[in-house]
This record gives sequence, structure tokens and C-alpha cells, in this order.
Amino acid sequence: MKMDGRRVLVTGGAGFIGSHLVESLVGQGARVRVLDDFSSGCRANLAAVRDDVEVIEGDVRDAAAVRAALRGCDVVSHQAAQLEITRCIEDPLEDLRANTVATLNVLEAAVRAGVARVLYASSACVYGQPAFLPSDESRHPTNPNWAYGVSKLACEKYAAIFSQTSGIPMTGFRYAIVYGPREWYGRVLTIFLKRLAEGRPPVIFGDGRQQRDFTYVSDVVAINQAVLAQEPPGHDVFNVSTGVGTTVSQLARIATEVTGVNVDPIHEDVAPGQRSRIVEEERMRLPSELEAMVLDPAKGRQRLGWTPQVELRTGLAREWEWYLANRDRWTKLHY
Ligand SMILES: NC(=O)c1ccc[n+]([C@@H]2O[C@H](COP(=O)([O-])OP(=O)(O)OC[C@H]3O[C@@H](n4cnc5c(N)ncnc54)[C@H](O)[C@@H]3O)[C@@H](O)[C@H]2O)c1
Repeated sequence: MKMDGRRVLVTGGAGFIGSHLVESLVGQGARVRVLDDFSSGCRANLAAVRDDVEVIEGDVRDAAAVRAALRGCDVVSHQAAQLEITRCIEDPLEDLRANTVATLNVLEAAVRAGVARVLYASSACVYGQPAFLPSDESRHPTNPNWAYGVSKLACEKYAAIFSQTSGIPMTGFRYAIVYGPREWYGRVLTIFLKRLAEGRPPVIFGDGRQQRDFTYVSDVVAINQAVLAQEPPGHDVFNVSTGVGTTVSQLARIATEVTGVNVDPIHEDVAPGQRSRIVEEERMRLPSELEAMVLDPAKGRQRLGWTPQVELRTGLAREWEWYLANRDRWTKLHY
């Protein structure tokens, strides 16, 4: 699909990933509308495209607001969500509303508006604890360890049904750990970088052997573009990942090397569900923490010709540069 002149609604377009998608769509000549309630996103994220996008302040949990925002659109990219893990544990009902009910609002409005395509953000959290690594889309079980993953998995199941009954092609993206400029403050990489910017050592919880798959945000944009360009039929889901597992200890080492801050990472014995005595705001080590999250990106390569391009050191250096120029952005932990 050529995006030039197409009307696209991006929900959550003022957020981290959403704002990068918006910039890419504007660059392809699309007429972009953003629906965002600014609960975690901000207008500063859209500064580069301020004059090129229509911004509607509204809530995706409100079916009428979603319907109104989608009127006249050819494509919807649904990114808005509640993604704080501590909040989904404390209030799974609200998580269900913000993720699953809101996605149902988007799917219903998309069918009503007769859009040509729906793209939506799912998550690596649909897999839960790994049965094997790297987790793939077809064979790996989906047993979420958190309510958040359940709410995202339900979105996938609903999208499959809506796509089949309406004939509208729909694609879900199981994002791994997405990082890069405008990332929100709360996860391990951002906490490491902020501490390093203050000359303080990264704090590794436990033995630091937990593996994560860090995926740079421009690679996320690229797979979204590939789906729009190639228009895969029906409903499908793709891992958006590198397939490379990096332990938290390795991440701490890479972060100190890339930033050039001369400190040694330290370990703190924090059990899952307990709070740190060192990290700011007594950051909690998440309960039922994933032992590992490494997703196989092969399906995206085979079906879409997409391969992640940005290696962790390169992406981390770009995020560091951005943070040094935007130090007011990481003030309060997201979870
Ligand atoms: N960042 C990651 O590593 C990651 C990993 C897996 C999945 N995801 C998914 O990707 C999507 C984007 O995540 P992100 O990292 O950019 O987060 P983000 O918090 O930066 O972006 C979410 C955006 O949605 C908006 N929003 C939240 N609730 C809303 C509501 N009820 N109505 C309207 N707008 C609302 C927020 O204001 C924000 O602008 C989410 O669906 C998330 O679940 C992200």
C-alpha cells in the first residue's frame, strides 16, 4: 500500500513507539491523526511533526471517541495501552479495560469505518516464562506470567476473529524490549543510563543472568513499514525482536563502556517482588519476573524480508545521546 495521501490514525501516537511510527508515516506522505490521552505520552515527542499531524486528546477506552477519531481513515495503527506491570498486578481490571476493551473499541470502529488495514501492538509478554529459546510465533506456548500478557493475548484473539469476519487484514506485533530515544523511564536500561549520567554505578538485581532481547525502535518502525508495503493477507502476528539474548550483567557492562563512565556495576540482593534499597524510588524487582525473553525474528525475515539492523551498542549510544540532551524527561519511574 502506498502511504502517500492515506489517512492514518495512530492511537498512542504521542508515546515512545507511537511517535516514531507517526514520524515515519508523515515522512511517507500519510495524513496522520493521533488519538492520545497523554497519560504517559507527551507533545514533546511529536515536536518534529507538530505542524503535520492532527492531535485529538481522547481515551481509547471511550468507544465513541475512537469511532470519531477513526472516521475517514484508511489505516489504523493501535499503540495506546496500559503497560506498567506493577499497575496490571494491582488493578488487572483496569489493565483489561485499557488494553483489551480499548482494542475491541478500535476493532469495532475500524470495521465500521471500513479501513483497509489494522496494525496493533501486542507484546512478548504473551509467551510468559520461556519453554525454549528463542520463542517463536507458531510452536512456543502462550502462557502469560502477568495480567498484562493476558490482556494483550486476548487482543490477538479478538483481532483474528474480527479480521476473519470483516475481511480486513490485521497484523499484531509482539514487541520485545523496545529501546531508543524517547523511551520512557522505568526499565533496566533507562535506570542504568540515568544513574551513569549522574556518575553512579548501575545496580544489578540478583545474579544478573536474566536475559532480555533489546530491539531498537527504528527496527520496530521498519517492520511496521514492511507490513504496510507488502500487505500480508488475513490476520497474523510477528515477533519484533533481534533473537539475541543479553543478560542484565552484560547490559550493565555495555552501558558503562558505551557511555564511558568509569564505574563498576554493583549487585543488590533483591528478590522478585521486593524493593531495592539503592535504586531511586525503591524500584521494585517485578514479581514473577521473566527468567528470559528472547524472541525468534525469523518469521518477519521470511514473510516480510525484515531483519533488525541496529546492534545494541549502536542503539544504546543513540539513546544515551538523546538522554543527555533531554535530561528533564526521566524524572519519575513508570513502574
Ligand atoms: N516499549 C516496549 O518495549 C514495548 C514492548 C512490548 C509491547 N509494547 C506495546 O507497544 C505500545 C506502545 O508502547 P510504548 O512503549 O510506546 O509506551 P508509551 O507509554 O510511551 O506509549 C503509550 C501511549 O498511549 C497513550 N495512552 C495510554 N493509555 C491511553 C488511553 N486510555 N487512551 C489514549 N491514549 C492512551 C499514552 O499517553 C502514550 O502516549 C503499547 O501497546 C505497548 O503495550 C511496548
